[in-house]
Amino acid sequence: MTQKLTIAIDGPAGAGKSTVAQIVARRLGYIYLDTGAMYRAVTWKAISCGLTSNAAMEIIAIAETIDLRLAYIDGKTRVFVDDTEVTGDIRSPEVTGMVSAVAQIAGVREAMTRLLRELARDGGVVLDGRDIGTYVLPDADIKIFLTASIEERAKRRWLELKEKGYAVDLEQLKDDIRCRDDMDCKRELAPLVRAKDAVLVDTTELSIEGAVQTILKLCEEKTRRV
Ligand code: DC
Repeated sequence: MTQKLTIAIDGPAGAGKSTVAQIVARRLGYIYLDTGAMYRAVTWKAISCGLTSNAAMEIIAIAETIDLRLAYIDGKTRVFVDDTEVTGDIRSPEVTGMVSAVAQIAGVREAMTRLLRELARDGGVVLDGRDIGTYVLPDADIKIFLTASIEERAKRRWLELKEKGYAVDLEQLKDDIRCRDDMDCKRELAPLVRAKDAVLVDTTELSIEGAVQTILKLCEEKTRRV
């Protein structure tokens, strides 16, 4: 495949977006951009400055000036803010609890969208997020809406957190995910919706490899057509 495609993978929390996106990027030799990690990094910095999500102006200032670096090292995305590694910290329950509110702030979204368009300009990228195919890159070559049942998504997040040493209640996690889905879907600006031209991939019963193959096949078809 010679043409460098832009691949947008959107969907709700826990659908497997980052796992699938990373594998697709690796197989194609593309760059993987975890856009949720960027919103999380802004949220992490806001928390470390003692801010709550009500402090919109201060958080926008953080989003506009943050020294944010995503590095892909040994098959894993690592996130640095002002040269401090925050890869683990941005997944803490505290950040997770506040990030959807931060992602609703218009100025924060504008700053992240600007950054993402710049990073994706030359193609050869796989981005996962909520609004990539609908808003950030409406002309993306491949658009996927990756989803799964809420039960399955909560179970995956529970296992992921357990492995990282966070003890959380599964029912509580389900409620939190439902609440986050709600905020992401109902926000005014660039809400989480399936783009009209996005291919729906439901991973409730589909393996990671199955989802990866579906996307790679679409890429092949696309490059054959151009
Ligand atoms: O994928 P994630 O759980 O790491 O995303 C964290 C939050 O960031 C999520 O609640 C919604 C927000 N987000 C967004 O609004 N737009 C994106 N493109 C990516 C994430």
